Amino acid sequence: MSRTEEVAKLYQQYVMPTYTRTGIVLVRGKGIKAYDIEGKEYLDFFPGWAVSGLGHCHPEVVSAIREQVRKMLHVSNNYYNELQADLARKIAEHSFDGKVFFCNSGAEAVEGAIKLARKFGSPKRYEIITLEKSFHGRTMATISATAQPKYQEGFSPLLSGFTYAPFNEMDAVRAKITERTVAIMLIISK
Ligand SMILES: Cc1ncc(COP(=O)(O)O)c(C=O)c1O
Repeated sequence: MSRTEEVAKLYQQYVMPTYTRTGIVLVRGKGIKAYDIEGKEYLDFFPGWAVSGLGHCHPEVVSAIREQVRKMLHVSNNYYNELQADLARKIAEHSFDGKVFFCNSGAEAVEGAIKLARKFGSPKRYEIITLEKSFHGRTMATISATAQPKYQEGFSPLLSGFTYAPFNEMDAVRAKITERTVAIMLIISK
């Protein structure tokens, strides 16, 4: 059995099948190239959902991470962190004026956006319009926002307050707006 097959077997036995995976085990990357556990080289045109937007193991990214882990691995949210403060300023200056919410995943970012919208509209406006074929994440609130039955089946009752409009039909979106609508969430269609 190859090492790839062994790893795939471990997945089958021990990892929940929440993602469809391509049958290779990537172990190393440099720039545009990635290498699997059998030593095969690939040109990697997939930036890991934008996580590896600078290519694999860019030397400046690697050295910044190295420098930090030598100093301190973790600072809890109970303390100030000068790097977090600087990053927040940079994000605000390069996007739009406001404050940054740091979180761990896309789903958490969407949850944060849902909560912000609801807080803004509370108590009268709480409904959020999303699109059919959308994808917003895998938590309870974000599968409720995701208008695709395959992500929702088996998890009822979903979070209420979402209405769905067909993709690419602005009139249908407008028709869904009521006095309870607080936001329209358009992220992606797959
Ligand atoms: C548009 C969009 N929103 C949310 C998510 C969820 O992100 P995460 O998997 O980091 O929770 C994804 C992930 O693919 C996404 O594409």
